[in-house]
Amino acid sequence: MKKIAVIGGDGTGPEVIQEGLNALRAIQERFSIDLDFIHMPINASRYLSTGETLTQADIDQLNACDAIYLGAIGHPDAPPGVLERGILLKLRFHYDQYINYRPVKLYPNVHSPIRSATPDTVDYVVIRENTGGLYTGEGEFLNKGTTDEVAKQQMVYSHHQVARCIRFAFETVRKRHQQSPWKGLSADQLAEGKIGQLTLCGKTNVLTYVFDLWQRVFDEVALDYPDVVTNYTHVDAVCVHMIECPNIFDVIVTSNMFGDIITDLAAVTQGGMGVAASGNINPSGLSMFEPIGGTAPSFTGLNQINPMAAVGAAHMMLDHLGFPDAARCLEDAKIAVIQKMDSMLAGKMGFKTSEIGNMIYDEICHMPAL
Ligand code: IPM
Ligand code: MN
Repeated sequence: MKKIAVIGGDGTGPEVIQEGLNALRAIQERFSIDLDFIHMPINASRYLSTGETLTQADIDQLNACDAIYLGAIGHPDAPPGVLERGILLKLRFHYDQYINYRPVKLYPNVHSPIRSATPDTVDYVVIRENTGGLYTGEGEFLNKGTTDEVAKQQMVYSHHQVARCIRFAFETVRKRHQQSPWKGLSADQLAEGKIGQLTLCGKTNVLTYVFDLWQRVFDEVALDYPDVVTNYTHVDAVCVHMIECPNIFDVIVTSNMFGDIITDLAAVTQGGMGVAASGNINPSGLSMFEPIGGTAPSFTGLNQINPMAAVGAAHMMLDHLGFPDAARCLEDAKIAVIQKMDSMLAGKMGFKTSEIGNMIYDEICHMPAL
């Protein structure tokens, strides 16, 4: 039995999570997997009425869980940063979820704003370092409120933080290409026994301390992975390539702040916020899976948000929990439903959040035996 903490959160978070749970129930029946869902009221409404963000009681309850399934947290009335630092980032830091795993995959029939994009050309993974760098918030104000004010925020990385993230990224390349090598490799690379590629995304030409460390650690760890082609691209050029030639990427590894930015750009190329999901992973601890769309306050209760991203988070979670067949089945059901739809934007094409959820549920129940 696996215990899943469900944090629907705020805005449209609970609506999309409900559809993800619906799909997970169908998967449970089909695969005889025992999942116990524990709903937790960690959200902005609670903060606005009690002032509490993440409490010790929450942590005690989460400690007994195997994964966290999160909708979205945020509220227009909460001051900027309070809920982010108090809940979302606190969960990431407390549970040392040092990897942000972001598949960037354009499914057939999903609209991408890149005209030339196809499911063959947009299919890569971004590994974002998730607990360090600018996000640790080390900083200070000097002479605050005066015209002599100076504000500082430091980007700090240790060898340990960088090495474990880069190693995870190399392992991701191997996991992706266990069966067959990445299709972007040249004949020569295949002949040399390469199976995939890892790109380090940084800014070595300007951030000459932090990315010097990243580059050195990258080269060090690469010695253990002779089957992986390695290269380096500056973050600004990565943005250009994501639009112009996304097919050159297999796995990208990068720092927390750069990863935050490039994964939103990547999400747009794969069909947007309604589709993209992320895993906040501690490979030996409690991990958390979420759609990346946010709370979308103006859509709350309208049943209009695409739940595909929440379903994406759910199959990532199943895979992480050690149910790869069930994860594949859920992803296949999602793809099948997308195939049945003309366009991916739930509101625009007349599908409601719950209708899409029901279609996925039915698809799982009626899929032929694996
Ligand atoms: C994300 C989000 C968060 C981040 C915010 C909400 C703090 O944008 O998961 O990418 O910046 O990491
Ligand atoms: Mn972000």
